[in-house]
Amino acid sequence: MAITALRVTRDGPACSARSGSNSSTGPATCTDGSSRPAPRNGSECTATRTAQATVTDQLGPVAADGRGERQAHVHAAKLSDMVNRLIGLALLLNRVPDHIFDYLFGVSTWGCIFRGASVFAGRDNCAYEGSQWLPTRSALKELAPGPSDVFVDLGSGKGKVLLIAGRLPLQRVVGVEIDEELSECANRNIRQAKPRLRAQSVESVAASVLDWPIPDETSIIYLSNPFIGQTFRSTVNRIIESYDRLPRTLHIVYYYPWEHDWLMSTGRVIVEGVRSGNWLVRPRWWQGGHVIITYRVAEVSEVSQSRRSSNRARSRAIRRWSGPNRHCFTMSAPGEGIIYSRS
Ligand SMILES: C[S@@+](CC[C@H](N)C(=O)[O-])C[C@H]1O[C@@H](n2cnc3c(N)ncnc32)[C@H](O)[C@@H]1O
Repeated sequence: MAITALRVTRDGPACSARSGSNSSTGPATCTDGSSRPAPRNGSECTATRTAQATVTDQLGPVAADGRGERQAHVHAAKLSDMVNRLIGLALLLNRVPDHIFDYLFGVSTWGCIFRGASVFAGRDNCAYEGSQWLPTRSALKELAPGPSDVFVDLGSGKGKVLLIAGRLPLQRVVGVEIDEELSECANRNIRQAKPRLRAQSVESVAASVLDWPIPDETSIIYLSNPFIGQTFRSTVNRIIESYDRLPRTLHIVYYYPWEHDWLMSTGRVIVEGVRSGNWLVRPRWWQGGHVIITYRVAEVSEVSQSRRSSNRARSRAIRRWSGPNRHCFTMSAPGEGIIYSRS
């Protein structure tokens, strides 16, 4: 009971825009998925109090005098401390493969970087934080891309996903990054990892996605919650226009899909896959926001036909994400409070 109460605290607003993530250069709140900023409404205190009350209740007669009550509080505090340490350990373990990734490729993709005008200044641009290596690799490999495929990472940061995609035998891998320094860092990482890459060309371009023409040959678009709001909408509209100009197999792979409901509302995408965005998969992971969703762009008629077809054969994860679900996503930065995807 007590543990359940404490976990309520941990399911609160996620760090930064996202995942069980990292950080170093950035704010303390970016350490990972559960390194949360102080909850706005004091829910942590409430949960701790709930845990203490539960232990006190369980101790019943012992807690009848003052000494028993103090003991119960000590037990509750110890239990809470132990749970926090276990969660902290799990989060550290969750990021181990990403440190190995940097080591193996001889690159630097670590960190959580807030620079320039971001969502916290009322803009659409999200901060830098690298996606997790293993879940992202699995999501891309599942598409079985080949030498005719063109992969685009919109908001490519330090180029981690360019390297992950670059390991596959693709025709072209290109990233677009609004922050020049991050884009330079991505190109340094690409040069460093060159001997290990299989794609014919891998590069990062410094530009805003709004100024960058999406090539009509693109077959896979990756988004790790890089931007929201109007920037996201106009980008997706351009993706759909590109598809309409040249109908083809076109996938959008979207991690921490902040704009999922809006994307579904276009009536132009079908959800083909949902997987955890974390390497250490939590029970009922699909109920959280740290998911990687694979959408396929399609004609309106195909989308409505797929919505009519039976849902029963689908996995619970796909059932949860195959339509709008009003999931509440969160972002936080030190001293900036928390932004919610909907009120
Ligand atoms: C969460 S990071 C993802 C980095 C990388 N794709 C990965 O998954 O490892 C999002 C990136 O999008 C970039 N970004 C935000 N708004 C952008 C825009 N309008 N055009 C291009 N890049 C943008 C940010 O600077 C940041 O580096």
